Amino acid sequence: MSLNPAKRQIHLAAHFPGVNNTTVWTDPTAGSQIDFASFEYFARTAERGRFDYLFLAEGLRLREHRGRIHELDVLGRPNTLAVLAALAAVTEHIGLVGTLSTTFNEPYELARQLATIDHLSGGRAGWNAVTSSDAFHGANFRRGGYLDHADRYVRASEFAEISKALWGSWQDDAIVADADAGVYLDAERIARVRHQTRLFDVDALFDVPASPQGRPVIVQAGDSADGRDFATDHADVIFSLHTEFEDAQDFYRDVKGRLAARGRDEESLKILPAATFVLGDTAEEARERSREIALAQVRPETAITYLEQVWNRDFSGYDPDGPLPEVEPDTGPESAQGFANRHAAVRARIAKLRETAAAENLSIRDLIIRLTANHTFVGTPEFVAGEIDRYVQERATDGFTVVGHLTPHGLDEFTDRVVPLLQERGSYRDTYEDGATLHDLLGLPAVRTGAPVGV
Ligand SMILES: Cc1cc2nc3c(=O)[nH]c(=O)nc-3n(C[C@H](O)[C@H](O)[C@H](O)COP(=O)(O)O)c2cc1C
Repeated sequence: MSLNPAKRQIHLAAHFPGVNNTTVWTDPTAGSQIDFASFEYFARTAERGRFDYLFLAEGLRLREHRGRIHELDVLGRPNTLAVLAALAAVTEHIGLVGTLSTTFNEPYELARQLATIDHLSGGRAGWNAVTSSDAFHGANFRRGGYLDHADRYVRASEFAEISKALWGSWQDDAIVADADAGVYLDAERIARVRHQTRLFDVDALFDVPASPQGRPVIVQAGDSADGRDFATDHADVIFSLHTEFEDAQDFYRDVKGRLAARGRDEESLKILPAATFVLGDTAEEARERSREIALAQVRPETAITYLEQVWNRDFSGYDPDGPLPEVEPDTGPESAQGFANRHAAVRARIAKLRETAAAENLSIRDLIIRLTANHTFVGTPEFVAGEIDRYVQERATDGFTVVGHLTPHGLDEFTDRVVPLLQERGSYRDTYEDGATLHDLLGLPAVRTGAPVGV
């Protein structure tokens, strides 16, 4: 069945597992996080499921604490751009989106790498522009944790402006290649990009021609007011965490409502929150599977290391099935790795954990399950398909970023059992159009290239 034009279309992204504890490496079917075969299998499954794009998160540092690497990270964090380039060669239609930090990269270098992948993939590249919590990641870079939260978004915004200017600096017809006239390039059709501020000093002629979709799609993940402003100024997609129906609708209204003031149409920014799914033949079976998966996702030692990360203390003596520790956090300068390193934020976070645990009398392990393994949609394929459709038709989201718990089989069940039901409902594509770019798949307005830019 083809798309029903009377219905809003569902968009789906496929999050490659790994990077955090929600990936179950203990499952007998779990495969490598680093072999190309895993990426290829996952990408092909997503393409079979007609997803809009495959999504890679990125961690620039392994979480560690007092000399111990945390169990929270399923190891294997290969270079994002290399993986996307390799996947471009073994896929045909699906978008390829990678997370890359605006804090620890340079715009010219990143813009040319992404533009190159856009060429290699025939217009399927995307960039999840994140600011990264730099006090933690910064230690891996020669500049160190060098920007506070507000300045990270100033940098991110200028980074995006420079990147867009570079991507837009070649007109589509800049390469003349007229052998008779002996003319290869028309220099008039390539604009110089200048951007001089306290954070950047760029004066550049871009070295990659205009790419098939004008520029890569830009995704944003970050929930603060500054993060939302960045999204409405620059992004095509938001990867949010708002999945509870009313909260998702509020977020959707808030973000979409800001677009008009920026001269943007509502459809020019898609919201695809992270969502997890557990299926069963009956609701009861799905609930049982959800509990089993949650216990595998949050093993006793995972729960303890999660708390150690927040408190910055050694909790190895604590019982994961017992109550939360009553001690105060250690808020020394290197505390709370993996989070913004602010004492008030740590204390507020702990107060919130205490409140949640007390309200339902949760053990340490059950609290961490609640926080990290509380599956979004649990039920029969019919129920899950109905929920996804409802969220989209009732403007709570434009679709979802599906986060599976298994590498590389995390999408198999969803693709085989839920996707056909979405297609039957007429709100999800059953085929890709030949030559569609990622902008096209997402229903985003076309990007005009070659406007004479310079910022
Ligand atoms: C859903 C989501 C996914 C994220 N994924 C990544 C990631 O893969 N790599 C990364 O360095 N930061 C990631 N971030 C962190 C953001 O880059 C940002 O540093 C952090 O959320 C703080 O910004 P905020 O205060 O606007 O939320 C993610 C944030 C969110 C909300």
